[in-house]
Amino acid sequence: MTLVAPSILSADFAYLAAEIKKIEAAGADWVHIDVMDGNFVPNLTFGAPVVKKIRPVTKLFFDCHLMVEEPERYIDDFVEAGADLIVVHAEATKHLHRVLQSIKEKGLQAGVALNPGTSINCIEEVLPLVDLVLIMSVNPGFGGQKFIATSLDKITRLRKMIDERGFDILIQVDGGINAETGKLVSAAGADVLVAGSFVYGAKDCKEAIEALKDSLNG
Ligand code: DX5
Ligand code: ZN
Repeated sequence: MTLVAPSILSADFAYLAAEIKKIEAAGADWVHIDVMDGNFVPNLTFGAPVVKKIRPVTKLFFDCHLMVEEPERYIDDFVEAGADLIVVHAEATKHLHRVLQSIKEKGLQAGVALNPGTSINCIEEVLPLVDLVLIMSVNPGFGGQKFIATSLDKITRLRKMIDERGFDILIQVDGGINAETGKLVSAAGADVLVAGSFVYGAKDCKEAIEALKDSLNG
């Protein structure tokens, strides 16, 4: 499975509903929702109340990327808001296993994210619990940053680790993704591409999404 998940971090927040409908019409598979707490990352965005408000706007799958310290405090809120997938950072909690378990118990998909400086070894023990691993290819906090090229080797090693153990886990890549880097990460084994500025900054967001889909398939 290969999917494109535009990030609404680069959308115009004054017109959020229209910005989501725009990517839905343009062929997006998921909506990537970047939640930042000004603590885990040096930036703030929005929380579960905003997610709840945008839930009726679209049928698209809600991929909630929590860049938040102690995400366990907010899981129930995001479940209630209508998230389909909740992704927590391995660096943000002392009890990664417990928080992933609690997401699964609610019947949602669970994902674990890794900052560029965090080794894939630290998620070995939670692989049986996750549907997705998110490899950050920039340091989280802002859109429009440059892709970190060493992420490619990390994706290759993660793909090998997942396949050797026979798990059915998607690899998502987030940060600095465009048609060019999209090709590189998909060749390394990525299944889901997140793109903020490449999609929302494009003149024609349908063309941008199609270019990302081509990079996944070609
Ligand atoms: C960064 C966020 C990303 C961001 C990506 O912390 O997690 O999802 O929107 O933006 P681009 O695609 O512009 O690098
Ligand atoms: Zn993100």
